[in-house]
Amino acid sequence: MISLAGGLPDPQRFPIASLRAATAKVLAEQPVASLQYGETRGTEATRSAFATRLSGEGDLRVDADDIVVTTGSQQALDLLARVLLDPGDAIVVSDPDYLGALQVFRAHGASLYAVPVDAEGMQVDALEDLLAHGLRPKLCYLVPNFHNPTGASLSEERRVRMAELSARYGFVVVEDDPYRDLWIHTEPSLMPGDPELTVRLRSVSKILAPGLRVGALAGPQWLTDAIVTAKQSTDLHTSSLNQLIVAEALGSDWLEPHLGGLRVSYAAKRDALLVALERAFGARVACNRPAGGMFVWVRFADVDDTGELLHRALAHNVCFVPGNAFAVERDLARHARFSYATATPNQLGAAIIQLGAAANQLSAAV
Ligand SMILES: Cc1ncc(COP(=O)(O)O)c(C=O)c1O
Repeated sequence: MISLAGGLPDPQRFPIASLRAATAKVLAEQPVASLQYGETRGTEATRSAFATRLSGEGDLRVDADDIVVTTGSQQALDLLARVLLDPGDAIVVSDPDYLGALQVFRAHGASLYAVPVDAEGMQVDALEDLLAHGLRPKLCYLVPNFHNPTGASLSEERRVRMAELSARYGFVVVEDDPYRDLWIHTEPSLMPGDPELTVRLRSVSKILAPGLRVGALAGPQWLTDAIVTAKQSTDLHTSSLNQLIVAEALGSDWLEPHLGGLRVSYAAKRDALLVALERAFGARVACNRPAGGMFVWVRFADVDDTGELLHRALAHNVCFVPGNAFAVERDLARHARFSYATATPNQLGAAIIQLGAAANQLSAAV
């Protein structure tokens, strides 16, 4: 089976030797801090390491005190929902959007207002329309760079307008950005935003390893204090050992070369997937050319139901995620998300040839 389905990073690119050395160093130099209970907010070293990285993203000043270390950004989403949302509260999401976030918001009883995504990210003019007609959301959830599932990045103009709308209508913007370091040619720009209304989520899942379960939430104090209280009753704190390994990794001189290698490898895979799609389907598919991240979002002109296509593809040992898995309100039955992160370029090529055969069988059966 060649999987283009999961959002898993490439295990061949886990920096295993470096993480082994970082683990040994942390255990040798800080045995008690690594193994003892720690502060709910996160260890000072890890908060400082994330603050330094965030401050390097642009014209932004983030201190260790602005940060809460979370057990992946998934936990940050859950904590935000607990702290900010009451059942029935309106929130804004993209359509389609990251399933894990939709699940959290639905589980907390939020009313989801879906704004379509195009090649330039969330259609902020559609959001402006909803606001002009009286919508007053508590928060807007946004994956501004290399969005999951569409791969789209929010344009500069839309970033500025989003910040203006948040300030004018007083809603929190939750900027979930786990893919930002996986850019191909150009580093993403900073999302502007009122510091009192902007929450930035970061994670090492896609750049080091998701099994570490370490992420960070940066936000205003009124929010981080409430998040710390909610986190205390959830898991006391994120693993001390893993936090210190991550602090070591983020401050190391091997991180940048590692990220450089990751970018080159993912760029080659993206290109292999796009070339294979063009060869097998030509004008029968329309797809984006993501400027980074892990996903290509495809629309099939002659497949009515990518769920059916998946069924056929499985018999050809290929899997992917049908578009409707990420839908909020839109009908995305002709769409699919292909992840190029885990398979090799050759496997990606072979998978798309098989997918072409599956699609031909499907149209012959109709
Ligand atoms: C947009 C987005 N946010 C959050 C997550 C969860 O990441 P983490 O491993 O940091 O919990 C993912 C994982 O795929 C994701 O795609």
